[in-house]
Amino acid sequence: MNIIHDVTELQSIVKNIKHSGKSIGFVPTMGFLHEGHLTLVKEAKKQTDVVVMSIFVNPMQFGPNEDFDQYPRDLDRDRELAEKAGVDFLFVPSVDTMYNNSLSTVLKVEKRVNVLCGRKREGHFDGVVTIVTKLFNIVQPDKAFFGMKDAQQVAVIESLVEDYFLPVEIIRVPTVREEDGLAKSSRNVNLTELERIEAPHLYKGLRLAQEEIANGEKDSSKIIEMVKTYIESNTSGTIDYIEMYAYPELTNLSVIHGEALLAIAVKFSGARLIDNIIIKE
Ligand code: PAJ
Repeated sequence: MNIIHDVTELQSIVKNIKHSGKSIGFVPTMGFLHEGHLTLVKEAKKQTDVVVMSIFVNPMQFGPNEDFDQYPRDLDRDRELAEKAGVDFLFVPSVDTMYNNSLSTVLKVEKRVNVLCGRKREGHFDGVVTIVTKLFNIVQPDKAFFGMKDAQQVAVIESLVEDYFLPVEIIRVPTVREEDGLAKSSRNVNLTELERIEAPHLYKGLRLAQEEIANGEKDSSKIIEMVKTYIESNTSGTIDYIEMYAYPELTNLSVIHGEALLAIAVKFSGARLIDNIIIKE
């Protein structure tokens, strides 16, 4: 596996790969890799010839009171995991490289952001689409792999690709979980011991809702209320949101039908966790 820090160097590698007629699969990450990230790599290896992964903790997608400084980092460990998973090129740029000057042109997300994390984390998705566009332009992937754990991110990036005719196919990869149901996340290491025990209740709450819907409940506000009561009685975290929308449009859904996203965010002392399920009629 090659590790690249420099944009020009990666661009010339990409040019050669393209020239040889091989397809490029891209897995953008912020590092502190876990099984979720590695599953994206596995999928990329199945579907494309050469796999590029990026590791970059993107300051632009963190708000002033968020966890940019506390975000876990361990490049040595990441390098080993990426290599074992079969990544061909690991791109690890510095903040200076990616944001050398202030931007002359800004990308601002207008749709699919006034709900969920977009509403709670102002400017977050502007930061995400900015870095993803920069990375897509450097890597020029045929396919890019994103996890459904961040379902709103997938919806926003699919819109970005459509709006700007970006020549890349977005592949949705299902959420990878711990045995107890907790969605794998780099932030899980920042939970206290007790919070780690409580955290699987996020998914349990979502599953309960899924059962209720399968049993015929169609009223989304009743479902949300049920999950809220469950989370409040089973965790010490503070609910940031529990919301339900049509997916991927993220439009309101009072009566559940079609493809629906039920998503939750809970703040614990050391980490804010998110999770979701897609419910298909
Ligand atoms: P990060 O949180 O590191 O996640 C990188 C990718 O891994 C995302 O597509 C995310 O959805 C996926 N992922 C994380 N946990 C997962 C899990 N348990 N199962 C399946 N996939 C999972 O998302 C970001 O970084 C950044 O916003 C980024 C897209 C890199 C832009 O900075």
